[in-house]
Amino acid sequence: MKFEKNILCIGAGYVGGPSMAVFALKCPQYKITVADVNKDRIKAWNSDKLPVYEPGLDEVVRETRGRNLFFDTNIAKCIKEADIIFVSVNTPTKTFGIGAGKAANLQFVEKVAREILKESDSNKIVVEKSTLPVKTAEALKRILYSDHEKGVHFQVVSNPEFLAEGTAIEDMKDPDRVLIGSEQTPEGIRARDEIVEIYANWVPREKIITANIWSSELSKLVANAFLAQRVSSINSISALCERTGADINEVSYAIGCDSRIGPKFLKASVGFGGSCFKKDILNLVYIAQSYGLKEVADYWEQVITMNEYQETRFVDRMVRLMFNTVTDKKIALLGFAFKTNTGDTRESPAILISKKLIEEKAEVVITDPKALENARKDLADYKDLVTFEDDPYKAAEGAHAIAILTAWEQYATLDYKRIYDAMEHPAFIFDGCNLLDINKMYELGFNIIPLGRPSRARDI
Ligand code: NAD
Ligand code: UGA
Repeated sequence: MKFEKNILCIGAGYVGGPSMAVFALKCPQYKITVADVNKDRIKAWNSDKLPVYEPGLDEVVRETRGRNLFFDTNIAKCIKEADIIFVSVNTPTKTFGIGAGKAANLQFVEKVAREILKESDSNKIVVEKSTLPVKTAEALKRILYSDHEKGVHFQVVSNPEFLAEGTAIEDMKDPDRVLIGSEQTPEGIRARDEIVEIYANWVPREKIITANIWSSELSKLVANAFLAQRVSSINSISALCERTGADINEVSYAIGCDSRIGPKFLKASVGFGGSCFKKDILNLVYIAQSYGLKEVADYWEQVITMNEYQETRFVDRMVRLMFNTVTDKKIALLGFAFKTNTGDTRESPAILISKKLIEEKAEVVITDPKALENARKDLADYKDLVTFEDDPYKAAEGAHAIAILTAWEQYATLDYKRIYDAMEHPAFIFDGCNLLDINKMYELGFNIIPLGRPSRARDI
């Protein structure tokens, strides 16, 4: 079959895989290839056990793989064949040199740009899908235009991705908006329109926003910073609720009813995790600092400080309420993923909470329906001091406390009477997700300590 366009995505991760699977589903007339240097990842994308867990992803891949969706490791060949190349490689926080701990590490993006230049023998549109510091397109252009002899022309377009893990397929199928930024030259606008045309196969035109390329790059960082700021704001208030007897759920509801504030992203938690919020805010802070905007940088940095406070405060409170010692006590952690419906544990608050409990010499048992494989890797340095258990009932057996760290639906409906009977007493539940009915748990015999809400406890 002859395809209308050859689209390549470099980077087969949490974004590249699911987003291109939906491209393939919605645009059977295009050939979509996802390429990666990681051979194991590509092998997994070509197998029955995909490397990423996302509700609905298996079905989409089953329908499209081998039809117009392909996963490949031969990046050079894929580049040659492509008309449009999405770059969706990782952009982690730099851990060394200038900007260490804040700036984005752009080595992978730059490597891809050099490879595109090297392998291309026809004109191409290069699309930034990775989250990048504002002005990265300038650097990409410099690299792509550096070989004047070649006679190949590139256009750089920005199309940041807004999908959230756990809802990636839904988000891709029905996005709030798609953002496409380009240079405001005739060639830039032509390239932009080609990307608009892809999305217009399923996204209503009014939801496809076009902008100048710097606005587009910056908007992605700002969107994540605003979302994370809301979580830090509500989490800061959860601490105040615990001191005053106010209930964070009631406060969230009351303020969220104001249409100017809105109800979303006001759920108190043990802290936000995920691969992006922290790194993107740090990146924003770094950019502000490099433009000499100290107050702007300090303002956004506080969102991270508050998140670290929330994670630490949760575990400190556990220790304090369990009579100031958890040494030799078995503590079952229910949930390790950074949110529900994903196996991803990057920057999950559960990592810090586990480590702190292990340092206090508690006997930590971790259970999670999707994230145990990643949890094992995250805690590899502590592997003799922690156990992993598929079954939450077994995890809680003989435990002095359980802590709910990920709001998996199934944890709301466990048989807590059975759990209570099999635990050491006094038995504690630290409900970091406010998933459980406080009175019911209290009546079963538990000391129930929710987050930002009045506790009910006999033994403290
Ligand atoms: P990821 O680490 O899951 O995947 C990135 C992939 O890129 C890896 O498989 C890696 O092997 C590959 N890669 C790196 N260098 C390469 C190279 N030179 N050639 C080929 N492949 C290469 O990352 P992710 O979570 O998919 O995130 C990718 C980008 O998207 C980041 O910039 C991130 O900030 C952004 N983003 C992520 C999410 C999310 O939910 N995870 C959402 C929106 C945006
Ligand atoms: C987030 C954004 O929502 C996406 O739009 C963005 O594309 C993505 O980052 C990215 O750039 O990587 P994601 O991190 O996958 O998506 O998940 P979120 O639903 O945003 O949750 C992030 C964290 O905030 C989770 O730990 C979650 O538990 C926490 N959270 C979220 C709260 O604590 N309270 C809330 O009310 C909402």
